[in-house]
Amino acid sequence: MELISIFANELTKCLKGILPVSNVTKLIEKPRHTNQGDIAFPCFTLAKIAKKSPNQIAIELANNVKHPLFAKVVADGPYVNGFFNKKIISKEVIHSILQQGEKYGSTQIGNGENITIDFSSPNIAKPFSMGHLRSTVIGNSLAHIVEKCGYKAIRINHLGDWGTQFGKLIVAYKKWGNEQSVQQNPIKELLDLYVKFHKEAESHSHLEAEARMWFKKLEDGDKEAKTLWKWFRKESLQEFSKIYSLLGIEFDTYHGEAFYNDKMEETINVLKNQEILSYSDGAEVVNLEEFDLPPCLIKKTDGATLYATRDLTAALYRQETYHFSKGLYVVGHEQSLHFKQVFLVLEKLGYSWAKELVHVPFGFILKDGKKMSTRKGEIVLLEEVINDAIILANQNIEAKNPTLEHKEEVAKNVAIGSLIFHDLKNERLNNIEFSLEEMLKFEGETGPYVQYTHARACSILRKVKETNDLQAEGLEGEESWALVKHLMEFPTVIKKSLTLYEPSQIAKYLIDLSQEFNKYYGLVKILAEDNQKQNRVALVKTVTIVLSEGLRLLGIKAPEEM
Ligand code: ARG
Repeated sequence: MELISIFANELTKCLKGILPVSNVTKLIEKPRHTNQGDIAFPCFTLAKIAKKSPNQIAIELANNVKHPLFAKVVADGPYVNGFFNKKIISKEVIHSILQQGEKYGSTQIGNGENITIDFSSPNIAKPFSMGHLRSTVIGNSLAHIVEKCGYKAIRINHLGDWGTQFGKLIVAYKKWGNEQSVQQNPIKELLDLYVKFHKEAESHSHLEAEARMWFKKLEDGDKEAKTLWKWFRKESLQEFSKIYSLLGIEFDTYHGEAFYNDKMEETINVLKNQEILSYSDGAEVVNLEEFDLPPCLIKKTDGATLYATRDLTAALYRQETYHFSKGLYVVGHEQSLHFKQVFLVLEKLGYSWAKELVHVPFGFILKDGKKMSTRKGEIVLLEEVINDAIILANQNIEAKNPTLEHKEEVAKNVAIGSLIFHDLKNERLNNIEFSLEEMLKFEGETGPYVQYTHARACSILRKVKETNDLQAEGLEGEESWALVKHLMEFPTVIKKSLTLYEPSQIAKYLIDLSQEFNKYYGLVKILAEDNQKQNRVALVKTVTIVLSEGLRLLGIKAPEEM
């Protein structure tokens, strides 16, 4: 039920063609104070067209709008204020949420089309960084959101599994490595080897040359090099999988950079045939001067291909394989130039779908105002962070609800939920200050707060015998009305989060809804034995439906007890 469009249609009818309905819709506002009604129409624009005073027009309109969904429509100075019929509308809203359940807010905007989402994409043999965590949770949520809107999400982990660093790693492993320690603690061990390589290379310059030679061997398919690379990749991927399974995230493909090795010649041929490849100091590039951008580097002087070449090839492969209608790349904003270049090269090649490629950038995670780094000594291992969060969540639950069943499971869901929510409640381009204590709080704008609100609503429902076949008559009070209005907004919020690629829209909405529910809970005796009990219980049930579905869209579980 789109109340704005009902209001707009009624006003337009009264206006007899002075303004088209689309313009009327754009002018409609939400009044500042609830005593000014639920919806307002300012008459200034109309006054100019009709050459009357806005106050006069407001009176005329208010007298003419008559619709059963409005309890009253009044003129308030230059505004037409509409007051909805709380009973009819709350009945409609509650009924439709109960009936649709978790499908509430779903649409078919996407028409079953594919959207590829390139996200997470960590680098093999390096720790999973905070930046990769951001990409992972934002990308995962976007996948849920696009599916909610009727698209099919193709989740792609574009692993960083190729590049000169593997030459360095092979050299380091052969000189100082040991099979057992790599197996026991792959990421840490491989990182140590990598760091050691750089340290040693400062005084032994021949190491760099050796590394280049080993990478060349790898590219040429040398057996020993290939075996080591495969092994590093497998061990790293196993480590990353632990994080994905903790977060409850799955991918459709792990085709990373290496997957495109044998497909790049073809890309380069296409660039040649279209005559957009030029030479600059022995390297092959695509000029982007006309866009005021530096050239996109395709092939280095030594013949090695680059990050951009792989991304061009990957985009072509994805279009051919998935015929995506949008291709999203959830990658930090520091790679903006790279994606601009890649997309423009594809445009220069004449692919119309290049316009549908979208870089979805995000900011940094900061610790004490500084970027959290995974280099050298200051690395933060994500798994440790998650485990710390679980320990803290356990303590919180132990203090709050020591007799809770499945405590471990709940603590895990709360810890993960707090990590994800802490990220997604911020507009993605903002930098985020990292604080375990902050994000695990049960009050304030946190994941546990929303989860706790959901659990509290569920506990009310547990006290009622039959909540499966609730018949709602609608509610008239102001307290419930505020809640109903929020519930009504959920579908709009989802659409907005899709258009902006902003899960934060949903996270913020869930905070508001939780606050509104807790207010209601404080003001109203929900289980009082009167003739409105059934209606209040139905309202509480709709709140649990929307909270848990909203959390699901963020990638967060909603425990029924905590
Ligand atoms: N592995 C890259 C990094 O860690 C991110 C890859 C993003 N995806 C892409 N198609 N370039 O910086």
